Amino acid sequence: MQKIAIIGAGNVGGQIAAFLIKEGPVDVLLLDVVKGLAKGKALDLEDCASVLKQDCVIKGSEDFSLLKDRDIIVLTAGMSRKPGMSRDDLLKNNSGIIKDISLKIKEYASGKIVLVITNPVDLMTCLTARITGFPKNKVFGMGVSLDSARFANLIREELKVPVTSIEAVVIGSHGQAMVPAPNQTQVSGVRIERLVSEGIITKLARETVERGASIVAHLGSGSAYYGPAAAACVIIKAIINDEKRVLGVCAYLDGKYDIKDLYLGVPARIGKQGIEDVIEIELSENEKKQLLGSAESIRGQLANLNV
Ligand code: LAC
Repeated sequence: MQKIAIIGAGNVGGQIAAFLIKEGPVDVLLLDVVKGLAKGKALDLEDCASVLKQDCVIKGSEDFSLLKDRDIIVLTAGMSRKPGMSRDDLLKNNSGIIKDISLKIKEYASGKIVLVITNPVDLMTCLTARITGFPKNKVFGMGVSLDSARFANLIREELKVPVTSIEAVVIGSHGQAMVPAPNQTQVSGVRIERLVSEGIITKLARETVERGASIVAHLGSGSAYYGPAAAACVIIKAIINDEKRVLGVCAYLDGKYDIKDLYLGVPARIGKQGIEDVIEIELSENEKKQLLGSAESIRGQLANLNV
């Protein structure tokens, strides 16, 4: 059984563990600097596993040296958004947290797979990769698979079709510069552009970009966690089961899509080695232009990050 560490035992971390337990036997270590939080959640999650008749190992601790026997590290620690904040507003606070944790990951879990969830995820993934120095295929982020699922959900509502018939694609940054790609989005094999008007597609794309902020505004405090945790769980399972499944992740680009030396959301094949291949999909001229714009916005923010 592969051993997973989830750093950050807040809503996202706890919910990832809960989804993993539901899906089958797992060995999960929750880590958090807040005294008692990881331990308390771990005890509750052990009970949850017992209710679900899953033989799991669930531990909680504040001791980061326990990372040393872990195969996959999931990084969720950090502040979440409050109403009116963008993901980028979290940059200052969360980059300090991610720097500290990345040093611990480097010390105790050299060369292991690190999946970054903390926002702003494109920048935090880049930061984690730079500080750990781990191979680029082993460090990647969760973002656009959630955005793709959100786009699919909005299409489902609009067209009244089963979500299983929808292949929705969103690439680029997991932020205001994300790029819903209708050119690649299909319902039962038919391109969305042939099914609804351009105006409706633009509206659904805009709602996809705003979905996270809309959830934050309704909640009043904290941000989405069921969706992010489900998306993380799908990626973790693809690694554990060596599925070679193509999923949208924040991956290192070194020339594909004409983007070099940058982390950005694109489809990639995921297996036990982490990212096994970045998949270059066909984009319309407009989508390509938007993706390059997304890359420039991330590059600009990175320049200010000082790593
Ligand atoms: C969202 C946050 C978690 O998209 O990034 O809801």
